[in-house]
Amino acid sequence: QARIVVLISGSGSNLQAMIDCQQSGELGGDIVAVISNRPGAKGLERATKAGIEAQCLDHKAFADRESFDQALQAQIDQFQPDLVVLAGFMRILTPTFTEHYLGRMINIHPSLLPKHQGLNTHQRAIDAGDAQHGATVHFVTAELDGGPGIVQVAVDIEAKDTSETLAQRVQYQEHYMFPLAVQWFCQGRLRLHKDGNNHVSLFDGEPLPV
Ligand code: GAR
Repeated sequence: QARIVVLISGSGSNLQAMIDCQQSGELGGDIVAVISNRPGAKGLERATKAGIEAQCLDHKAFADRESFDQALQAQIDQFQPDLVVLAGFMRILTPTFTEHYLGRMINIHPSLLPKHQGLNTHQRAIDAGDAQHGATVHFVTAELDGGPGIVQVAVDIEAKDTSETLAQRVQYQEHYMFPLAVQWFCQGRLRLHKDGNNHVSLFDGEPLPV
């Protein structure tokens, strides 16, 4: 079974979707730890309730991004993960950190990437007059919200939508899509390919042996 560490900052509803899948035997991996950068994040309670090791590393206790990422890396690596999952982890990561986990760290971003990288994506999709909005699961590289996409889900934007109603519909879909991507990774079906120019793309060869 693949060992999975999940990083969160808040509610952890995506984490919960993964816990539910794990408990019904569909995730294909074991969530061995959940780490939050915010003390009191609701996701920590969800982990504890499911009997999963829940830890906090408060970024405010660190002088800079580099020292926080260094400590976070040490904390994660204690669990020897095969996969690191960013499930609503709201920190920008340093290139040293992303390089260390290249090919074994995935993120969910609430937009149809490459559209609307960064924050407030639901409101920005409405303001832009987009017909559709959604969420994307992608491998994490040094480029913020820029790594190779794995799977994407789209919903129609309705005239009466507010950022709250739209976020709710997108999140509903996230809860199906994200555990599925984790399952694919655990089955050995997702791999990053690095070419001579260090360009990273999704492996598209024969299915890999599980
Ligand atoms: C999710 O909707 C996820 O797409 C978003 O945060 C939410 C976390 O919700 N992620 C980002 O914005 C990353 N930049 P959750 O804590 O309930 O899973």
